[in-house]
Amino acid sequence: MRIAVPAETEGNETRVAVTPDIVKRLIGLGADVAIQKGAGKNSGVTDADYEAAGATLAASAADAFNGADVVLGVRRPVASSLAGVAKGAAVISIMDPDGHEAELAQLAAAGVSAFAMELMPRITRAQVMDVLSSQANIAGYRSVIDGAAEYGRALPMMMTAAGTVPAARIFIMGVGVAGLQAIATARRMGAIVTATDVRPATKEQVESLGAKFLAVEDEEFAQAQTAGGYAKEMSREYQAKQAALTAAHIAKQDIVIATALIPGRPAPRLITADMVKSMRAGSVIIDLAVERGGNCELAKPGEIVVSENGVKIVGHLNVPGRLAATSSGLYAKNLLSFLETMVDKDKKALAINWDDELVKATLLTRDGAVVHPNFQPKS
Ligand code: NAI
Repeated sequence: MRIAVPAETEGNETRVAVTPDIVKRLIGLGADVAIQKGAGKNSGVTDADYEAAGATLAASAADAFNGADVVLGVRRPVASSLAGVAKGAAVISIMDPDGHEAELAQLAAAGVSAFAMELMPRITRAQVMDVLSSQANIAGYRSVIDGAAEYGRALPMMMTAAGTVPAARIFIMGVGVAGLQAIATARRMGAIVTATDVRPATKEQVESLGAKFLAVEDEEFAQAQTAGGYAKEMSREYQAKQAALTAAHIAKQDIVIATALIPGRPAPRLITADMVKSMRAGSVIIDLAVERGGNCELAKPGEIVVSENGVKIVGHLNVPGRLAATSSGLYAKNLLSFLETMVDKDKKALAINWDDELVKATLLTRDGAVVHPNFQPKS
């Protein structure tokens, strides 16, 4: 069984799909591991580290893919690059399938079985394979580090001979995986932390982390969580009440970290231009939702916008990639855990159970066709 790992080609991708520790584990499954030279460069892993772990180095992606039974990537590979893989090879990565039907059709035509890690069901058995969680956790942590770096003042209260420095006020909007880690990180750094969400379950989580919860707690709020644990899109009336409540609060904040998302919908607009105007110069907004349309009206993907009144609105792309070594390590573990369910350890070969719910949920293409019900080609 040959496993291939390419260097990522997308411009801002700094992560790598497999780390040296995981190379050893893959070899333990009976695999040969081929890594494209330079694949770990932006994650602090050298070619020598991979060789020491037992991998062989390939001069190009094509060389790595040649005869591969499994391709492990961070992002969806370009289908044409997969020409040399074994028939029916498993290609596993973050596939970003929404709106990319043409690319999925090309993967199908390449004859591979493509799996989208972000479609992994959020069930107990699959927690160790949950890339949304592993990467959002790092994004939440990094958002506070980025906020602190952009903010021209200290976060903790300091009592010094030269005077007292007040603690910074940080407001976290959206308390999923990223938001919870942002709260914990901001608290550790000494800020005064408040947070909001539309799911009632988050209130206790926020308070247990030592932060104060702020939300419109009406009847709609009581029912805002779906059976899957996600938020619903809220009514216009609720959104107006929420804006009225948060507007006065945001005006007093030094750093706002916005992480609010709704599955399958654009990110909710929570911070208007007027709210930005109400903040004092030097304040910072970190918009982690910028890739899905942004929580802040003024956020721009990949840019730091400075408003007329001197507020910085930070729209970094690929925030987990801003802590690439850590994110890669967790992502690689997610991949390994999934792959372990697909390998026959005695035969040392791929043995995919097509009836497994994890396989059914993540499989996009097989035997030349797009097979996932949610991503069928539009006729
Ligand atoms: P997400 O990334 O989809 O959304 C982030 C947060 O934004 C959510 O907490 C959501 O309620 C909030 N939000 C949406 N609209 C909002 C609005 N208008 N105002 C304020 N906040 C708003 O969520 P994530 O991080 O993926 O987590 C969703 C749920 O899944 C959580 O309950 C989490 O604990 C759960 N989860 C379960 C796992 C498992 O069972 N294996 C693994 C990971 C998460």
